[in-house]
Amino acid sequence: MIPLVKVAMPPREALMPALEAVLYGGMIAEGEHVYRFENEFARHFGLKHAAATSSGTGALHVALLLAGAAPGTEIITTSMTAEPTNTTILQTGATPVFTDVDPLTGNLDPADVVARITTRTRAICVVHYAGYPAEIDALRQIAEQHDIGLIEDCAHALGAQWQNRPVGSFGDFAIHSFQAIKHMTTVDGGMLTLADGDLLPLARKLRWFGMAKGVPRTEVDITTPGYKYNMTNVAAVIGLQQLAGIDALIKSHIANGRAYDQALATVSGVAPAVVPAKSAPSYWLYTLLADDSDDVIRRLAEIDVMASKLHRPNHYHSVFRPFAGDLPGLDTFYRRLVHIPCGSWVSVADRERIIDAIAKG
Ligand SMILES: Cc1ncc(COP(=O)(O)O)c(C=O)c1O
Repeated sequence: MIPLVKVAMPPREALMPALEAVLYGGMIAEGEHVYRFENEFARHFGLKHAAATSSGTGALHVALLLAGAAPGTEIITTSMTAEPTNTTILQTGATPVFTDVDPLTGNLDPADVVARITTRTRAICVVHYAGYPAEIDALRQIAEQHDIGLIEDCAHALGAQWQNRPVGSFGDFAIHSFQAIKHMTTVDGGMLTLADGDLLPLARKLRWFGMAKGVPRTEVDITTPGYKYNMTNVAAVIGLQQLAGIDALIKSHIANGRAYDQALATVSGVAPAVVPAKSAPSYWLYTLLADDSDDVIRRLAEIDVMASKLHRPNHYHSVFRPFAGDLPGLDTFYRRLVHIPCGSWVSVADRERIIDAIAKG
């Protein structure tokens, strides 16, 4: 069966010697490989001031704390995402304010964002859902007008651009995820990037119990408790090897995504998610909107292709239900949503077979 998501590892010949050198080199925890990975990742993707973490979730938790999330405050967010976008908000004690999405993209609706801002709002947390950039310039403007933070959750969107600018470069804070099935994996890992380099020392402390590295352990002083969110050299060496092949990998997602966009635009009963002119998605998942999404899933299963909605709107979970209101755009998007395989493992022939099955179905 052609899977919807798949682990992508660098070539064994390149990865294994580098990995072995770290594993038996006596320095497996946070060290030089991590700092090199931070620099090379940031340079590669046009981002600034990077702090590598043990997960995207850890990076997001730190970003929220730096943005001022705390009990009594509110964070504007989306329910159309993976759960960690919002479990981390609860972790800070802040209230997630679920805001509606555009039914044609699944991304935050800027007009509804404005409507939900209060004096308690500290930040907008925007997800570039499935690798399709949200209207990030409009959200940047709103954040500035209301003097609140902007956090970009780029966990799905490595390599995506808005107006020829990389996602993650618009927000005060941005996070990426290197969890198993993302464009790029370090088995587990994440990256926090900051617009303001002055916050980097605090971000680094928050990822390591609240302690500064490089200060003797007998002298270091914790003033704010932090977490165990640091990346290991083992994960970082995988990340460094991944960077060598990441452009080709992202390109294959984009080639398949654009081909689907073209071919499926004229098929009745389905429509590709809308891609505005300013947007260049990196298509981690291909988003199709169907009159009958279950039928598309069934039809593709018949030809051994996996398709699914993959996510559960977060406000369906009991833990988030108290924060849920009316989200008509999300309801429409989710009813019609079906993700179809789009990554490097989908050959041109596979892609044609998938298009053909949907067109005939
Ligand atoms: C949108 C989104 N945000 C955050 C995360 C958290 O990333 P991680 O799994 O690396 O902790 C994920 C991944 O599961 C995600 O899909």
